[in-house]
Amino acid sequence: MKSRAVIINGGFGIDHLDAVTREEREPGHGEALVRIEAVSLNRRDVLLAQGIYNPRQKLPIVPCSDGAGVVAAVGPGCKRVKLGDRVVIHMFPGWLAGEPDRDKLATGLGGPGGDGTLRQHISISENTLIALPKSLSVNAAATLPCAALTAWSAIVESGQVRAGDHVMVQGTGGVSLFALQFAKMCGAHVVATTSSDEKAQKLRALGADAVVNYRTNKDWAAEGRDLAGGRIDLIVDVGGADTLDAGLRVIRPGGTIALIGVLSGAKAEINLPLAVMRQVRLQGVTCGHRESFEAMLRAIGQHGIDPVIDTIYPLEEARAAFAQMAENRHVGKILVCP
Ligand SMILES: NC(=O)c1ccc[n+]([C@@H]2O[C@H](COP(=O)([O-])OP(=O)(O)OC[C@H]3O[C@@H](n4cnc5c(N)ncnc54)[C@H](OP(=O)(O)O)[C@@H]3O)[C@@H](O)[C@H]2O)c1
Repeated sequence: MKSRAVIINGGFGIDHLDAVTREEREPGHGEALVRIEAVSLNRRDVLLAQGIYNPRQKLPIVPCSDGAGVVAAVGPGCKRVKLGDRVVIHMFPGWLAGEPDRDKLATGLGGPGGDGTLRQHISISENTLIALPKSLSVNAAATLPCAALTAWSAIVESGQVRAGDHVMVQGTGGVSLFALQFAKMCGAHVVATTSSDEKAQKLRALGADAVVNYRTNKDWAAEGRDLAGGRIDLIVDVGGADTLDAGLRVIRPGGTIALIGVLSGAKAEINLPLAVMRQVRLQGVTCGHRESFEAMLRAIGQHGIDPVIDTIYPLEEARAAFAQMAENRHVGKILVCP
């Protein structure tokens, strides 16, 4: 069948994102055809388009890992989903449960696993689809696969945040806002950082107990610790090069730094003895598996967590959506609706 899709076409760069009509295959055994209604962007998608995520990425490729929509057809042997089901796509079709390994991680959509979700239709294994609870809109569901599941892994699965803990989150991007929401859900005190006073107001409205501007305050990490009463149990680090060492200096002995992103650079100079002598846990986090996604969906339903959506674009304006994220002109998630 003919279907619209966005591909990175003929070279890297946001101006190489083209909307095209192409052939979409019918669902095979154990697969469903999903009519994708909403896709959310992640920083990884922008980096893929810019040739930074994987400079050797073969082109053309359909970018993006996140999507939600409605089952439009089912292949033979399909049991998990049926025609008309509203579903969200788990971004690692090969990582359904258990510890990650190279093979599971190589299945990431819109990257090592091949074509992603920025298209009207996708034929995909039914095992990677999760039916949506009635309370969750397709747009809200589309924000979850990468950013929310990563934040869930950092706060709930590996972080095991408990009521009364103090958590620091960085910036107002997708991962950090979900981390803020999940940390509040767990009963933690949350200090958030941001580059702008305008964004700070939005963080407070979302429940941040304290906000620090890291642009105007060079000692943002120490200020954040002071605002948390001198104790930070967990830092959700998305800054990388510019933030890791500062975090190490303020995390409590025995605390955890969840290493998630490298927004300011991939190589950090850090004071290793601080990690050793204070017995700090440096925990790398990569998204999560489908079972964890299902647990997260239950928690989102029970706690009425509402994903923050900044802007919604039609498929034909995908370039504008990518440019908005590249320039950090967003709070929370950006959607493209094919
Ligand atoms: N490991 C994983 O599985 C995984 C999954 C998802 C994302 N990530 C990574 O996590 C990072 C965030 O992803 P995202 O999709 O949430 O990105 P995003 O939505 O684009 O977030 C960007 C925001 O982060 C803040 N920021 C930018 N530079 C910063 C810095 N140097 N220090 C502190 N904050 C900074 C800015 O907010 P303010 O203007 O408010 O400061 C910016 O708007 C990226 O590096 C991404 O690749 C990793």
